[in-house]
Amino acid sequence: MPRNIIDVTDLTIEEINQLIATAEDILAHPAKYQDACAHKQLATLFFEPSTRTRLSFESAMLALGGSVLGFSEAASSSTAKGETVGDTVHTVSCYADIIAMRHPKEGAPFAAAQFSEVPIINAGDGGHNHPTQTLTDLLTIRREKGRLDNFTIGFCGDLKFGRTVHSLVNALSRYENIRFVLISPMELKLPRYVKEEALKKRGIPYEQTENLETVMPRLDILYMTRVQKERFFNEEDYLRLKDSYILTPEKLEPAKPDLSILHPLPRVNEIAVAVDKDPRAAYWKQVKNGKFIRMALILKLLDIHV
Ligand code: NCD
Repeated sequence: MPRNIIDVTDLTIEEINQLIATAEDILAHPAKYQDACAHKQLATLFFEPSTRTRLSFESAMLALGGSVLGFSEAASSSTAKGETVGDTVHTVSCYADIIAMRHPKEGAPFAAAQFSEVPIINAGDGGHNHPTQTLTDLLTIRREKGRLDNFTIGFCGDLKFGRTVHSLVNALSRYENIRFVLISPMELKLPRYVKEEALKKRGIPYEQTENLETVMPRLDILYMTRVQKERFFNEEDYLRLKDSYILTPEKLEPAKPDLSILHPLPRVNEIAVAVDKDPRAAYWKQVKNGKFIRMALILKLLDIHV
């Protein structure tokens, strides 16, 4: 059986720390890695829209000297003819050495992995998980803060449907002394199953609030998220909730001078563009980090040592 990354808990903390170390080494010495995946192929199967995740996977493989194939929408694959995801993945695993897959249905990459002869990476499944965004986030936190323990992180926005939040809460709950502040409207609270599995089972304290302003001065990291329009059942609810939080320079005035602001992107309007100039804004660095951590992950899953 190939090694798959479906959930962030498929990696131990030691392995995550090792991936971060490899990504740091790639950032420092890119030339060392430029032929590491020569003659290897990555397939990106995206049944849902994406900019950063798909292109950073492809850019990662190209920077390792490998090549890429795939599709960026279900309509251009045999899915449109009625083929099952299992058969599609089985087919692609005959052509590629590793597959990154995004799908609107929760659990689809897990199910598809049963039909694959090569490693499958979950590049986002519905409102469930997004483990490689979490690796990107962890690398960013490590580079910004110099550590992955002992801080207070606020998650703000759509904590219900935001799959990046679910995976990052799960990963961080395995590090020492992380304090979680969950900031969302009542309707978009972190799902009970994430709280149970990641926080309650491990006895980790957390607080829930609707008010970003009151908690701002205590945060070391602020993780902003987009309200996930595509997961709503009716437009009325989306319209009512979409502007719940809009981060502006004024709202950042009481924040710590060494706060780090993260966002998986894309942003809609939850962070004013004026915030980009604030030295505490780390989301564009986060975009760049996404490529290097995915390079490290591809090397690991293909068992290539440089
Ligand atoms: C996120 C996603 O797809 O879940 N984007 C990403 O991969 N960087 C966040 C989002 O779409 O809001």
